[in-house]
Amino acid sequence: MKEAIDLIFKELADLKAASQKEVEEARIRFLGKKGEVTALMEQFRTVAPELKREYGQRLNELKKAAAAKIEELKEAAEEAAVAAAPKEDLSMPGDAMPLGSRHPVSIVRQQIVDIFRKFGYDVAEGPEIEDDYHVFEALNFPPNHPAREMQDTFFVSTGHVNPLLLRTHTSSVQVRTMESQGLPIRVVCPGRVFRNEAISARAHCIFHQVEGLYIDKDVTFADLKQAILLFAREMFGPDTEIRMRPSYFPFTEPSAEVDVSCNICHGKGCNICKGTGWLEIMGCGMVDPNVLKASGIDPEKYSGFAFGMGVERIAMLKWQVNDLRHYFENDMRFLQEFATATEV
Ligand code: PHE
Repeated sequence: MKEAIDLIFKELADLKAASQKEVEEARIRFLGKKGEVTALMEQFRTVAPELKREYGQRLNELKKAAAAKIEELKEAAEEAAVAAAPKEDLSMPGDAMPLGSRHPVSIVRQQIVDIFRKFGYDVAEGPEIEDDYHVFEALNFPPNHPAREMQDTFFVSTGHVNPLLLRTHTSSVQVRTMESQGLPIRVVCPGRVFRNEAISARAHCIFHQVEGLYIDKDVTFADLKQAILLFAREMFGPDTEIRMRPSYFPFTEPSAEVDVSCNICHGKGCNICKGTGWLEIMGCGMVDPNVLKASGIDPEKYSGFAFGMGVERIAMLKWQVNDLRHYFENDMRFLQEFATATEV
C-alpha cells in the first residue's frame, strides 16, 4: 500500500490538465467514486492494525494533496478559458439613436415669426380658451352679427353675456396687446386656433395662425403693402410679387386678401394655383376705428394695420403639399421629409 500511495503522490506531482474538461477527468480519476485515492481508502480497511496509524496519516495527506492539486488546476483552466474567450470589439460602431426633428408646421411658424422679428416686431401669446369679448366683441363683431358665422365657433360655455369659447383666430391676442401695452405696437401673434369645420384636404378644425398688428401715428395702407411684400419675398423668394383683392373683415376697413405669385409655375399657371398664377396667403387691412376705440386708442391720433395667415397654408404652398391632413396625422414617412428643412 505504501508504494501505491507514493506512486499516486508522484502522479499528482506530474499531473497536467489544460482544459476544464481535463481537470474534471483528473478529478474523477483520483477522487471519483471509483478513483485511485478512493480505492486506497477502501483498501485501508484491510490494513493490519499496527500499520493503520502510519498509513492512515499518509492516506489523509494524499487525499488533501489530490484535492488541492485538482483545485489549483481548475483555477488555472478557468483563467485560461476566460483569456481565450473572444474579446469585445470596442472599435465596433454603435447603434445609431434615431434623431427627432421639428414638425413642419413648427418650422414654418418659426420662419414666419423670425421674418417679422427682423422687421422689429415683438411676439405675443394669449389663451386658447378665450371669451366672446376678445374674440368678437372688441373686434367689431356686434352681437348676432352675421360675420360671426364666418368663423364657426366651439363654445366652452354658453348662456351668459360673455361666453367662453375656443379662439377662432389669434386676433384676440392683438386685442389683449392693445389693452395692456403702450403705443406704438408692433407684434406678431402665433398660435393654435379652432373652428367647427368638417375636416378635408383644405380645412381642419384645429390649425395654426400668425397674425400681426402695427399701430402708430400715420400708418397707411402703403406701409401695410410694403410689409407684406417684404414678408412674401423673404418667405417665397426674392422674385415674388403680391397682389391685393378687396375683401371684408369686421375689424379692418378697408380689407384685402393677399395673393403671392405662384412659386411653382412662376405665373404661367399650374394645378397648384389652378391656372391663375396666384396663391392666396392671408387676409389683412387697416384696423377699423371701432376696434381702436374699443381698446382705448384714439383713432384720430393713431392708425394701424393688421394681417393674419394660416401656418399650414403657407407650409402647403412652400412645400407643395396637397392635403392639409398630412400635418395632423404624424406619419413618420411624411415628417421625415422635413427633418433637414430648417432653412427657407
Ligand atoms: N383674423 C382673420 C382670420 O382669422 C385674419 C385677419 C387678420 C384678417 C387681420 C385681416 C386682418 O381669418
